[in-house]
Formats: sequence, C-alpha cells, structure tokens
Amino acid sequence: MSGDGDCTAVIGLQWGDEGKGKIVDLLAPHHDAVVRFNGGANAGHTVVVGGAKHALHLIPSGILHSNVLSVIGNGVVVDPEGLLHELGRLEDSGVDVSGLRISNRAHVVMPYHFAEDASRESRLATDESGESGDRSIGTTKRGIGPAYAEKIQRACAIRIGDLACEKTLREKIQLSSRFRERQGEDGSSEQVLDAMVRQYRGYGESLAPYVADTFYLLHDLLDQGDSILFEGANATLLDVDHGTFPFVTSSHTSVLGIASGTGVSERRLGRVIGVLKAYQTRVGAGPFPTELEDAMGDRIRERGNEFGTTTGRPRRTGWLDLVAARYATTLNDCTCIAMTLLDVLAGFDDLRVCTAYRVDGVTSDRFIPDARALSRVEPVYTSLSGFSQEIDKARTLADLPSEATAYVDFVSEFIGAPIDYIGVGPDRRQTITLAAETGATA
Ligand code: GDP
Ligand code: IMO
Ligand code: MG
Repeated sequence: MSGDGDCTAVIGLQWGDEGKGKIVDLLAPHHDAVVRFNGGANAGHTVVVGGAKHALHLIPSGILHSNVLSVIGNGVVVDPEGLLHELGRLEDSGVDVSGLRISNRAHVVMPYHFAEDASRESRLATDESGESGDRSIGTTKRGIGPAYAEKIQRACAIRIGDLACEKTLREKIQLSSRFRERQGEDGSSEQVLDAMVRQYRGYGESLAPYVADTFYLLHDLLDQGDSILFEGANATLLDVDHGTFPFVTSSHTSVLGIASGTGVSERRLGRVIGVLKAYQTRVGAGPFPTELEDAMGDRIRERGNEFGTTTGRPRRTGWLDLVAARYATTLNDCTCIAMTLLDVLAGFDDLRVCTAYRVDGVTSDRFIPDARALSRVEPVYTSLSGFSQEIDKARTLADLPSEATAYVDFVSEFIGAPIDYIGVGPDRRQTITLAAETGATA
C-alpha cells in the first residue's frame, strides 16, 4: 500500500493476539493519535513497560503516552460499563486518560447483547438440531455479535450519543425489548427498563467528557499535518468477510475496516504493518490446519504464555501458517511485517512452516477463507533449523543466531514483505527495529 499519507495501520495477520498492543505502544510516540476502528472488548491488547503490565480492551494502546490522543472510532462497539472500569484501572495505575475521545456514533453494547451472545453460544453447543455436535463459535461472550447485528438492523440500536438523551434511550431499549419478546426471548419488565435507562444515562454522564465527533476531530488533525496510527483489533483471519467464516468475529478487522470505522480514507495510509506471530495461535473454535495437539503444542503454549488476555482461555497453538500469512499480507497490502514472539521458538531442534495445503491429493498455495473447506486441508511443511540459545536480550539483528535470522528471512521472502520489527520479549524494549525509514527507533 503506498498512499498519500503519513498515517500507519497496525493489523493482526492471524487469528488475534499477535502482539498488536506492543507494536502500537512502540509506534505511538511517533504519531499524534492512536485510533481503534473495529471490534469491542473482545480485544485484549497487552502492553508491558518496565515490568508493569496493562491489558487494554477498548482503550487504544497509545493511552500510556500522555501527549497522544486515544480515539475510539465509530466502527467500535462500546460496553460503557467495561470502558469505565478500564478507565478506572488505568487511572489507578497513574495513567493520564484525559486524551481519550469516543465517537458519538460508536454503538453501545447493552446487557441484553451479552445475554444473547451467551444464550446463542450455549444453544449452538447443545446442538438442538441433533445434526453435528457442538457448533458454538467460542466467542468471548462480550456481546459483540448481537451488538453489531442490532446496528445493522438499525431501529433500536443505541449509539454513544444516545446516552445523553433519556427519551431516546428509553424508546430504543423498549423497542429492542419488544423485538426480543416477539422472538420468544425475555423482554424486560417496566422496573427493569427504568433501572436500565437510569444506569445507562449514568454511564452517559460519566463518559460525556470524552465523547466527540471523531470524524471532524481526525480530519482536523490531518489538515494540520498530524499523523494517525490505526490500531486493528481481532485480526485478519477473524474478518467477517475475509476470515474463516463462520468462525470469525462480527466486524471488518483488516485494513479495509479503517475507512468505514473512522471516516478516514485508506489513501491516507503510508504504512501498513502486519503483525505476525512467529507461530500460530487461535482462541475459540474453527479450522486450524497447522494445529499441534501434542507436547510440542504444549511447549509453545507454556513458553509463549498463550492464555487469553480477555477470557484467560488456553490458546490453541501450532506451526506458522505461511499460506494464511501470505493471504493476509496481500489482503492488507502490508508495507512491512512485525514478527513477534520469535523468542518463544528458542530451543526447538527443528522449526516447521506450512508452505502449501493439500486437499484431495491436490497441492495449492492459496488460502481458503471458509471454515468447512479449510477444515479439510492437510498442511505441507518446510523444515527449517531451530536455534538453541535464548534471544530475549537481542537488540540488533547481529545478536540473533544465524538460524533465527534464516527463519525470519524465509518468512519474509515467502510472504513477499520486508520484516521491519522482530519481537524478542513482551517488554517495549524487547524489539529489534530494522526499518531505517520509519523513525520508529524505540
Ligand atoms: P494483541 O491482542 O495482538 O495485542 O496480543 P495480546 O496482548 O493478546 O497477546 C500477545 C502476548 O504476547 C502478550 O502477553 C504480550 O505481552 C506478549 N508479547 C508481545 N510481543 C512479544 C514478544 O515478542 N515476545 C514475547 N515473549 N511475548 C510477547
Ligand atoms: P485481539 O484484538 C483472539 C475470537 C473469539 C472467537 C471469535 C468470535 O486481542 O487479537 P467474538 O467475541 O468476537 O464474537 O468471538 O473471535 N476473537 C479473538 N481471538 N484475539 C482477539 O482479539 C479476538 N477477538 C475475537 O475467540 O473465536
Ligand atoms: Mg489479544
């Protein structure tokens, strides 16, 4: 992607948890605003600074830098209660949150969205049709799907701006409740309705200082020559259109979601950084061709501390899928890659990467963004030499063993994009920066 602009996007290239938060935190000081454009509190982005760990769900990972605006764009679905807790936690650890801005057009995740998410998942798990076992998606149960569904249905969807108006709020909650009653789900009694209106009006008041028309806010920044960093949540293979449907989330998680989720054209992007973990993980259900359900997989999980930031669930682990990575790099038109968690692979004799899929005896190097078809592929591996020494103290390419450099080079060549950053540990400082032109010399 070579746009006109000075803006940067950071996008996950796998099924999430690639270390986007760390890369955003690293690049934030070189931008004037960090902007979330999709998803909600299903995201869990970890930033580690000098031993202190911050888990961010709705608030952009630039928040730790006090001179950078943190913007929640219109494409995000916001649980106000969760957001207020997150703000409180950050304030308690001494973070200045005054630079937060929330789009008045972002949609609100309501309690009935959480309930519907949980109820759909349990109905899918118990397989009422009797056909094919557990069909649940393994969602984060943060109400994401139902909130986006109501947005697309329109009439009773609540936006952040609506929290300021009791009448609108009451009408919309009431209407939504009537729709759910007609579908045989629980409606709300008058008492429950009153309490909910009061509660969400209260959240509206608490969030009011942060609410803004972020479209004009961002365009005013761009007009004065400021630069914006867009922080992708979830990741490309979870994109509702381009991911492993139906085992995806409900938003546009790739770079393609930026324009609709913020109102800023992708032509403003000068750099698109695809974040790629050195191996593969997935939380929740869905096909995973390179999954390792053995001691090797356990070892990666332990070394990588692969347990969800949002739900604490153990992540499924496997070898790096380069067929999928090349697809995601093409889709996002990545200008470069940040390869993260390379340190986790120290100590393995051999490293494998998937370079093709085999289906019904036919070999192909094309990804298949469809769960049923992808579940039938067999991975074709290329073996590369492992490296025995720990690399968490490496700060330049020269500090890496030659086998680690060969792994990075192989990946770069296969997916057709330069690797500008290499992560060797969770801390901000545990990053090898290779790009000369970025100014991101952190
Ligand atoms: P995100 O959702 O993409 O922001 O990623 P998460 O924060 O959910 O998961 C990534 C995990 O890996 C977090 O615990 C990070 O602190 C950690 N992490 C990020 N980069 C590295 C790295 O290069 N090496 C190691 N060992 N851990 C990393
Ligand atoms: P970050 O930003 C990992 C997965 C869920 C589930 C599916 C749908 O931290 O990388 P949802 O609650 O969105 O309806 O769940 O998507 N999922 C993620 N997995 N990291 C994430 O975000 C995810 N966001 C959603 O596990 O399989
Ligand atoms: Mg995460």
